[in-house]
Amino acid sequence: MKTYKASLKNINVAANLLLKGGIVAFPTETVYGLGAVASNKKAIERVYSVKGRPKNNPLIVHVYCLEQVLSITKGIPNNANILIEKYWPGPLTLVLPYKNSSNICKIARANLKTIAVRIPKHPVALKLLKEINSPLIAPSANIAQHLSPTKASHVLKDLGKKLLKHTDMILDGGDTLIGIESTVIDFTKDVPIILRPGGLNIDIINKELQTKFNKSQYEENKPVSPGLFKKHYSPHATLRLNADFPYKEEGWLGFGKDPNNIKEKHNMNLSLSGNLEEAAMNLFSMLRLLDEKKIKKIAVKKIPNRDIGIAINDRLSRGASN
Ligand code: TXA
Ligand code: MG
Repeated sequence: MKTYKASLKNINVAANLLLKGGIVAFPTETVYGLGAVASNKKAIERVYSVKGRPKNNPLIVHVYCLEQVLSITKGIPNNANILIEKYWPGPLTLVLPYKNSSNICKIARANLKTIAVRIPKHPVALKLLKEINSPLIAPSANIAQHLSPTKASHVLKDLGKKLLKHTDMILDGGDTLIGIESTVIDFTKDVPIILRPGGLNIDIINKELQTKFNKSQYEENKPVSPGLFKKHYSPHATLRLNADFPYKEEGWLGFGKDPNNIKEKHNMNLSLSGNLEEAAMNLFSMLRLLDEKKIKKIAVKKIPNRDIGIAINDRLSRGASN
């Protein structure tokens, strides 16, 4: 397996492979996804098995227009519409009641009565979805519970040996801009619940919905999302969070100005200027680079718990659990 530049021609080839039941990794604005046609049971089973993903963890359905959302859900509540109007296409996933008459595979939904759906913002993802003109499931294109891919080379490294040359493809659309997965909000209960903080900031959601989500409320609600385990997004090295400087033998993942004494050769900085968006973009790829150095422990500087920093801290704390 190799990667293919996401040219119009290759997107077309990828669309044909998908329609024939293949699986295709493609860039979205958040992370790379591993796509399969949402009604194709065999292809979806392969996605689960290639990733080593537990079957009780449902997948996000990706579509390119609202019409497709309406074709697979029982409708969109008003407060969800407020977000949709402003933030779709974008890093926002809505969990909505599933319309039984539609043909999204049961295993993609982990047998639930709800369905997670999003319109991604990346031009390659949108073009691919339009070509196929039917919904695609796409989990992050990494081995289950490990670091999400923000480059095509990450996908190749994780899954290259498991994808098949004649049926599957990895489309390379460059580095993903946001670098952290979409924010998942459940709109199937009386009040919306954030199941996963992500690319769309919680402050923005609070303002638009006049809600008061905060980190602790999110912590309380954590178990609601099926398959979102405490241990997730993990590098091979152990993470030591909220560190001021690295101990001997530790790698270092800094944020903002580094401590004066930092001379570790295994050090990286998420954003020297302390920019949280830049840090999100670098998070998974820098953890991968440090991991490749085969160090046992990585000390990580404290990341401010605001804006997309909330999602960064969520991934780091899951990455740090055993
Ligand atoms: O940014 C993203 O969302 C990326 C790109 C590729 O689109 N995708 C992604 O997919 O992160 P995945 O499979 O790695 O994460 C999907 C999350 C999981 O936490 C899963 O539990 C949740 O969405 N989910 C899916 N369906 C759900 C449902 N019906 N109810 C509650 N949570 C659901
Ligand atoms: Mg994932």
